[in-house]
Amino acid sequence: MTDQPFHRPRRLRRSPAMRQLVAETTLAPRQLIQPFFVKEGIGKPEPVASMPGVDQHTISSLVDAAGRAADAGVGGVILFGVPQHKDARGSAADDPDGVMSRALAAVAGAVGDRLVVASDLCLDEYTDHGHCGILTEDGDVDNDLTLARYRDIAVAQAEAGSALISPSGMMDGQVAAIRDALDAAGRTDLAIMAYAVKYASAFYGPFRDAAESAPSFGDRAGYQMDPSNSREALRELRLDLDEGADIVMVKPALPYLDVLRTVAEASDVPVAAYQVSGEYSMVELLAASGGVDRRRAIVETLTSIRRAGADIILTYWATEVASWLR
Ligand code: PBG
Repeated sequence: MTDQPFHRPRRLRRSPAMRQLVAETTLAPRQLIQPFFVKEGIGKPEPVASMPGVDQHTISSLVDAAGRAADAGVGGVILFGVPQHKDARGSAADDPDGVMSRALAAVAGAVGDRLVVASDLCLDEYTDHGHCGILTEDGDVDNDLTLARYRDIAVAQAEAGSALISPSGMMDGQVAAIRDALDAAGRTDLAIMAYAVKYASAFYGPFRDAAESAPSFGDRAGYQMDPSNSREALRELRLDLDEGADIVMVKPALPYLDVLRTVAEASDVPVAAYQVSGEYSMVELLAASGGVDRRRAIVETLTSIRRAGADIILTYWATEVASWLR
């Protein structure tokens, strides 16, 4: 007997056809959601310095980009509004003439029959202090006062045409409050995608440029989760399911694949993962320096997120990747 193995996994790796036949994980355009930033008061799209290839859109360039996403077969888009005027209570967030309401109406009208038009529901882009809620006198975020604002914003987004309300502020009880507000407004039909398990992550850095939402003091550790915790993810999941979440999200994605797997095994509703701005820029900058093959690296990250259990992935590459997959 020489060194002849009996088991030879390499037999299934011999050809592209064989590898394709036995591949376990699929990645399809319909599983991807494209995030977009829409800014008030600009005449043309403005590039985001820390996110090569990503723009802050005008409403008209947003509608064009959403059309390209739909043409590529992307499953959904999610909008983030950047208003011109900010104040302590984030008034622009539920202003029917505000940038978010107008953008939602325009995009829903243009592509709402071809993909799901979702809206991020938070206050950080709209408040002058950059926090995700209403502040107390000593600078803490007041959970329950914030819920009252979220209720109004949910109804405004529903009226503007959102097909999926996505609260990202990590306030306790936010899903129940929004569900109740939507139901009271007669919108029992409108689904909620809850940012259920959202960590206080350094990888949101570039997004805060794009959304102009960096907090003017302090950080978000008092409401977003501690990166060291995974048991707590199950608690946040259970609460959001009890409160009526229709889809739950884990965020960020790649540094939290273990958490994603845990949540995917425990959830009985679809699970989304958000490949955040820092994950995007990390690959873009590395690829630009010649360190990796850009396309292979992008597909590998998305395949890994799917393999860990995500049904849906929010990614800044959604439209481009969808065009590769077709
Ligand atoms: C809050 C929100 C953030 C992101 C999505 N929604 C920023 C934050 O919590 O600070 C981050 C997304 C990304 O980094 O791509 N409205």
